[in-house]
Amino acid sequence: MAAVVSERPNSDVSAGIPGFDRAVWYFLRISGLALVILACGHVIITHFINVPSETTFDFVANRWASPFWRTFDFLLLFFALWHGMLGLRMIITDLIRPAGWRVALNGLNWLVGIIFFALGVVTIFAFDEEQGRSNAGPLADAFWVADLIKWSLYLFAVATYVGAALLVIYVLRHISLGTRPIYRGDLGQYAWILHRVAGAGIVFFLLVHIVDIMLIGFSMEVYDEAVSVYAAPFLIPMEIALVGAVFYHTLNGLRIILINFSKRGLHLQKQLFWAALAVTAVLTAISGWIIIQHELL
Ligand code: HEM
Repeated sequence: MAAVVSERPNSDVSAGIPGFDRAVWYFLRISGLALVILACGHVIITHFINVPSETTFDFVANRWASPFWRTFDFLLLFFALWHGMLGLRMIITDLIRPAGWRVALNGLNWLVGIIFFALGVVTIFAFDEEQGRSNAGPLADAFWVADLIKWSLYLFAVATYVGAALLVIYVLRHISLGTRPIYRGDLGQYAWILHRVAGAGIVFFLLVHIVDIMLIGFSMEVYDEAVSVYAAPFLIPMEIALVGAVFYHTLNGLRIILINFSKRGLHLQKQLFWAALAVTAVLTAISGWIIIQHELL
């Protein structure tokens, strides 16, 4: 469903989509525009101006002392999580054929969305800096949770590296055989595959990220212990890939919106794809150099 719809030209492209799916179609585009500021702003602060291992208790406490940043992070949580979960719903609806499994997975998707949204809201608005610094809270010694986060991030990194290797092998094999991986195999299809893989990857990282931020409510020591894992050399390529995924998905998302709502966007879709790839490569290289310089040199 999604692949066929999103790359078609002219503004009434959503006309044929029934009820709720039509609302989701528009929500993905409106929330996408909001996330250009919120998600890219967040990535610039945590991967360019600072690096992930520097987002310590002090860093977050200083930020959340201002109602502006608490509101910013709440809007980021709302738009990123629900855009992502509705995006996952589109992927499930597309890929899972047996109706029973599709309904069950979509049900699980909604449940995960509601639980993680609640966790995020409580983390942002119940944050008590004094209690956190006193390490006196009920979970102040729950270092096992910090270890759990560390192992989830290592697992996520392994999945990212294996997934990236399989994607490269898949595309190179088809190019070398002169066959086309899917549908007509034109540029739009490669843009769409990358958009989907990047979007899904960001969602799964976001879920782990909501839990690691939640530790700030446990205690300063437990939280800083968990965040220190971001300096681990094994995770650095994953952090750089995450920046690439956010920028590619964002720029291609803007490309999709231009194709949906402007004839000019339609005519320039190939150039816009190459431009999105080029800008992503440059921004990812800059962020990569900043992280490598800070953590490894
Ligand atoms: C936190 C950041 C984000 C996450 C987790 C995320 C995740 C996703 C996922 C999982 C999908 C479904 C992909 C598919 O079915 O192929 C999606 C679709 C989409 N995303 Fe994002 N996204 C994020 C940020 C953005 C941004 C900044 C934009 C910029 C405009 C954007 C624009 C879009 C668009 C237009 C679609 C719909 C594509 C279609 O109809 O096929 N997203 N997103």
